Amino acid sequence: VKIYVPRDTAALALGANKVAAAIEREAQARGLDVAIVRNGSHGMHWLEPLVEVVVGDERIAYGPVKATDVPSLFEAGFVTGGAHPLCHGPTKDIPFLKQQTRLTFARCGLTDPLSLDDYRALRGLAGLEKAVAMAPADIVAEVTDSGLRGRGGAGFPTGIKWKTVLEAAGDRKYIVCNADEGDSGTFADRMIMEGDPFVLIEGMAIAGLATGATKGFIYTRSEYPHAIAVMSEAIEIARKAGVLGPSVLGSGRAFDMEVRVGAGAYVCGEETSLLNSLEGKRGVVRAKPPLPAHKGLFDCPTVINNVISLASVPVILDRGAAHYRDFGMGRSRGTIPIQIAGNVKHGGLYETAFGLSLGEIVDQIAGGTASGRPVKAVQVGGPLGAYFPRALFDTPFDYEAFAAKDGLIGHAGIVVFDDTADMLHQARFAMEFCAIESCGKCTPCRIGSTRGVEVADKIARGIEPEKNRELLADLCNTMKFGSLCALGGFTPYPVMSAMTHFPDDFSPAPAVQA
Ligand code: NAI
Ligand code: SF4
Repeated sequence: VKIYVPRDTAALALGANKVAAAIEREAQARGLDVAIVRNGSHGMHWLEPLVEVVVGDERIAYGPVKATDVPSLFEAGFVTGGAHPLCHGPTKDIPFLKQQTRLTFARCGLTDPLSLDDYRALRGLAGLEKAVAMAPADIVAEVTDSGLRGRGGAGFPTGIKWKTVLEAAGDRKYIVCNADEGDSGTFADRMIMEGDPFVLIEGMAIAGLATGATKGFIYTRSEYPHAIAVMSEAIEIARKAGVLGPSVLGSGRAFDMEVRVGAGAYVCGEETSLLNSLEGKRGVVRAKPPLPAHKGLFDCPTVINNVISLASVPVILDRGAAHYRDFGMGRSRGTIPIQIAGNVKHGGLYETAFGLSLGEIVDQIAGGTASGRPVKAVQVGGPLGAYFPRALFDTPFDYEAFAAKDGLIGHAGIVVFDDTADMLHQARFAMEFCAIESCGKCTPCRIGSTRGVEVADKIARGIEPEKNRELLADLCNTMKFGSLCALGGFTPYPVMSAMTHFPDDFSPAPAVQA
């Protein structure tokens, strides 16, 4: 009997190792022969650890399974798909999964992340096999035609970035994968690295072939120990199999890569401070220009892409640009892995074509709040993203549509709050976060964020509220237009959206002190 127990961090945090051990113990006691495969996660976090039993050609899902549930699962005959209160039937038919369009996450949860055979069996390396036979400019053209835009948050067209690096003069060029996933409520990068690392390796190798870069770095954070371990092991396996090395898939073209671990400063997710950190320097933001595409790592032309941008490339090469481009809306093409977190019934990763409304995501897919109370606000795009009220729930998930409403989709994390949330407190938190994480290079961010906390505190204490609300808005304006990078420049989004959409929370009780 083949049983899948995930090894993804979310599942491990919820006791997956204990569950796997309990299954082994119980099977042994019953004289049953079971083979446990440690897979990635399907991304249905409320069901983790999600244990699957292979019955015929189906995988039957049970979850969330605790180690103490294991004897009763065996009792109910779960090794043959027996009925049990934790049974959800075939995994692929669970609505949260069934309704998704999985292109980038096609294999995540299905395979043993470190089995190259599993990877190949589900069309893995098909994109790279095509790329090795293509001229660099043709690979770049394919990615440009797909409409893929940077999934780290800024949405810059990936193909244009690659073209800049391809055309830049330089003996050495680099591919840097930004895996410093720092946004609150986001986990897509981690899930790919832990659940399907070969897709990222394949995407980076294709980027190397497309631009003439022969070396890649995955920059991630020490808070991701499982991702680091899986990624590093997968790179070794890929190297031994000739996927990486002096002759990628026997093409005679070289590409190799390694994982580098940062200490987890939020600002090191900003591309230029990431480069400084990679070079062994302090993670301080560099002024742009020069763009990293011209002068990046060690002053060489460098592609810096987010994990999801790179992991989306293999399916584009494999199935063709048009296949990918046909999903989505407007200028937001393809699919986006939405990460649903906060106060929700069904949290997890939901990959879908751009265009679903925020309301559909929150009310239908996420199933509303876990607390059962009304939704008050949804923060989209991480700690620097705007808070959207229910009145904006008709906004489609699309870069331009969110920007038109003074928001951003960022790295596509959404965090849901019920009506107990205090939005003045959330605005203060944004300023405090910026003050703690600021690299200190520019004044609006370094000083402005600390002043912002003080002003929010004054409003909360009822001290000259009108004047201080104006001051807070003025401060946000200065930070937005005067900051060097997105940390200081985007902190005004959560602050101003909270103040605009939830004015009652900024109208305090009468002054306690003048
Ligand atoms: P940006 O708009 O300055 O640049 C976007 C990308 O395009 C950069 O890689 C830049 O080098 C490149 N680029 C711009 N013009 C180019 C050209 N002509 N040729 C080649 N490349 C070009 O945005 P930035 O500051 O890199 O990112 C800000 C975003 O980061 C925000 O939207 C925010 O959502 C996101 N973010 C993501 C986080 C995460 O954990 N993934 C955390 C914090 C912020
Ligand atoms: Fe550093 Fe903040 Fe300025 Fe960005 S905005 S360069 S984090 S001080």
